[in-house]
Amino acid sequence: MKALVFNGDHKIALEERKMPKIDKPTDAIIKVLKTTICGTDLGIYKGKNPEITLGRILGHEGIGLVEEVGESVSQFKKGDKVIISCITSCGSCEYCKKQLYSHCKDGGWILGYMIDGVQAEYVRIPHADNSLYKVPTTIDDEIAVLLSDILPTGHEIGVQYGNVKPGDTIAIVGVGPVGMSVLLTSQFYSPSIIIAIDMDENRLKLAKELGATHTINSATKNVFEEIKKIAEEGVDVAIEAVGIPATWDICQKIVKPGGHLANVGVHGVKVDFEIQKLWIKNLTITTGLVNTNTTPMLIRSVSANRFDLKKMITHRFKLSEIEKAYQVFLNGAKEKAMKIIIDVD
Ligand SMILES: NC(=O)c1ccc[n+]([C@@H]2O[C@H](COP(=O)([O-])OP(=O)(O)OC[C@H]3O[C@@H](n4cnc5c(N)ncnc54)[C@H](O)[C@@H]3O)[C@@H](O)[C@H]2O)c1
Ligand SMILES: [Zn+2]
Ligand SMILES: [Zn+2]
Repeated sequence: MKALVFNGDHKIALEERKMPKIDKPTDAIIKVLKTTICGTDLGIYKGKNPEITLGRILGHEGIGLVEEVGESVSQFKKGDKVIISCITSCGSCEYCKKQLYSHCKDGGWILGYMIDGVQAEYVRIPHADNSLYKVPTTIDDEIAVLLSDILPTGHEIGVQYGNVKPGDTIAIVGVGPVGMSVLLTSQFYSPSIIIAIDMDENRLKLAKELGATHTINSATKNVFEEIKKIAEEGVDVAIEAVGIPATWDICQKIVKPGGHLANVGVHGVKVDFEIQKLWIKNLTITTGLVNTNTTPMLIRSVSANRFDLKKMITHRFKLSEIEKAYQVFLNGAKEKAMKIIIDVD
């Protein structure tokens, strides 16, 4: 089968690989229909995760058809169309029992990282009963891909951890697919002001269409002066959805006393945490990897057409063109790219 393989810093290639096999009775083999590229994959490509083994098949988001199930899998059978969760969970360890699936002792974020991922024709999914979700017939295949990772990540690590409440003023720093998912799901909780901050004018324009009340281009404007004009004291919730020191710094400076700073971005280097200024502000600062515990709820909301998600999908490629797709997503601003769908079938 064909698969996109990580061969080291800035080196990826579509290669011929062996078909995955059932390894444990709880596994399923999925024939991938659609996958996508995540900002996290870009991070791996750029060398943010040196711990990753060379030769690893990348990708942790996608949908597919169940090809084969191990003998202990009871919830899925051959032919079922499924959303592959970016998080694998056994369902029975200490962390799974607390719904902290991201820290499952035999799972967590392993796909396309610790084990081979979904940017391939077939993928092995461990603990299939807990790590797959049936795609309702009411959800379009491309939209279903957004439920693997970005919608639960934005909702859980951005909005829920950030404790967004009715009437709040919130700022989302970085409106890539993840920040845009924060923007959409924050609207469940009716914040009064939603400020989207990015350097990409196209993404800011889309943010406005999807519900941002204000946008700030941090490449051309002074973020702090602009925030002051909108919210004199700062914001109730600052959500970091990029994963670099500069955007962390914006967040720690714009959050007001009693507020929340929710970090969503995956960081590769340390940041300057200004505890000498923050200790007095009665802040709640959260970090985390998505648990996907709200995926079933999000599937129901998406199914009821709560979001205008088609607008998030800007490009489509075949698996044979995935290397080109990486270049387009890497140059998102120039290519006017948001979420890219890779058709595998
Ligand atoms: N915590 C989790 O569970 C989790 C899950 C998925 C993804 N992530 C992380 O979320 C982050 C965002 O993912 P994505 O797919 O949306 O990535 P992306 O790279 O597509 O989006 C990042 C956005 O940040 C903007 N940006 C870059 N530098 C900026 C700056 N200095 N000021 C303002 N904006 C800036 C870019 O223009 C882009 O729109 C990544 O770090 C990714 O690894 C975390
Ligand atoms: Zn992802
Ligand atoms: Zn577990």
